[in-house]
Amino acid sequence: MTDKIFADDILQGKVAFVTGGGTGITGGVARAFARHGAKIAITSRKEENLIAQQQYIEENGGKCFSVAADVRDFDAVQNAIAKTVEHYGRIDIVVNGAAGNFLCAADQLSANGFGTVVDIDTKGTFNVCRASFEALKESKGQILNISATLHYLATPLQIHVSAAKAGVDAITRNLSVEWGRHGIRVNGIAPGPIEDTEGMKRLLPEALKEKITKKIPLGRFGRIADIENAALFLSSDAASYINGVTLVVDGGQWLLGTSLG
Ligand code: COA
Repeated sequence: MTDKIFADDILQGKVAFVTGGGTGITGGVARAFARHGAKIAITSRKEENLIAQQQYIEENGGKCFSVAADVRDFDAVQNAIAKTVEHYGRIDIVVNGAAGNFLCAADQLSANGFGTVVDIDTKGTFNVCRASFEALKESKGQILNISATLHYLATPLQIHVSAAKAGVDAITRNLSVEWGRHGIRVNGIAPGPIEDTEGMKRLLPEALKEKITKKIPLGRFGRIADIENAALFLSSDAASYINGVTLVVDGGQWLLGTSLG
């Protein structure tokens, strides 16, 4: 795949606030947005991830601001949003990528384990959307929620993430309707199995990779670049009439009805 798909200035003048923007899928999205003209604000719990990402983006000619926050903590999120607006003067794009994940059978999972993932993924997404509402209303901006396909059918060992991501999809649909009136578009991306991510390392033993590859209609794992391209498209003016959609980017994997295990 060529990396020159979109014009370099497709997001020129935009400010993007990206949670979980230090590493993984949304780390890639933050870098891709920077390459296409956006000024980036990243947040994550881990300061060291933020420092490395900021350095990378700046060394490659982009603009990056970072502020540590746990998306579960509404005050911390509000502070991160306020600091971003103070720094750049606006926010046009919010990407909700912060997520928790691990494999655990439902009969082994503690209430706190279930709640922790719901708090990060679902409540965290709401917190960030809610805290950025005024800024997005002002800019007629947009939100991109990173979801999953786990809950379309049923995925063993993933009850907590499936429930959490179902909630994220509900947030996407609800806000697209409520905030569309304010000119704010709200969409999502549901990645399938994406190689070279923390999530995949945790969820999929290397030994199973070949077996899983055979279950993917396009015959390969997704790449972070596949999600970057979907995010660029949905965040650009090319998608200016797309609202309330969660775009599945999984090579057709979930349609086969086979879980990853
Ligand atoms: N299996 C079962 N339960 C687990 C678990 C696992 N692998 N990891 C955490 N939990 C449970 C803990 O036991 C605890 O419940 P308890 O108090 O009843 O014992 C609860 O979840 C909270 O754990 P804790 O470690 O205190 O939470 P945390 O806030 O520090 O972070 C996660 C937990 C989920 C965020 C972290 O483990 C994680 O997943 N990090 C990776 C993020 C990631 O992979 N991102 C990419 C997503 S695709």
